[in-house]
Amino acid sequence: MTVDVTINGRSVTVDAEPGTPLLWVLRDELNLTGTKFGCGVASCGACTVHVDGQPVRSCQTFIEDVAGAKVTTIEGLDSKAAAAVQKAWGELDVVQCGYCQSGQIMSAVGLLSSNPKPTDDDINSAMSGNVCRCATYVRIRAAIHRAAEIMEG
Ligand code: FES
Ligand code: FES
Repeated sequence: MTVDVTINGRSVTVDAEPGTPLLWVLRDELNLTGTKFGCGVASCGACTVHVDGQPVRSCQTFIEDVAGAKVTTIEGLDSKAAAAVQKAWGELDVVQCGYCQSGQIMSAVGLLSSNPKPTDDDINSAMSGNVCRCATYVRIRAAIHRAAEIMEG
């Protein structure tokens, strides 16, 4: 089966079995290894990417489900929200081991793109599916607020 999809602004045709997780295509076929494998069952958020601007778990998104869609990975982020998140993450020194962080950033950028001034509750809700074994949650929440300030200018 072949699937036409746009990934990080580039049109690609993927040849894969139906039911192949998008995550495997990204990592194994396209060498976009910034997207991580954690649980494989949509429970940790490490594999989060954007499909048509919305955060999704690529481990449980089949390649045929993204036919004709625009997929963005951590390597392809390019927006005001993404720049603000990158700056805030650095300022607040959010990252510990780093394994969960590309997924965290994809969810944070997704949140700020639709809600540029989120409350703590908004953040907790949007980020609840992203697990961090290093427990960086407090810094993540603070960094999202900081990113919102940066976006305001
Ligand atoms: S690897 Fe996809 S949610 Fe954990
Ligand atoms: S920074 Fe280590 S798992 Fe989140």
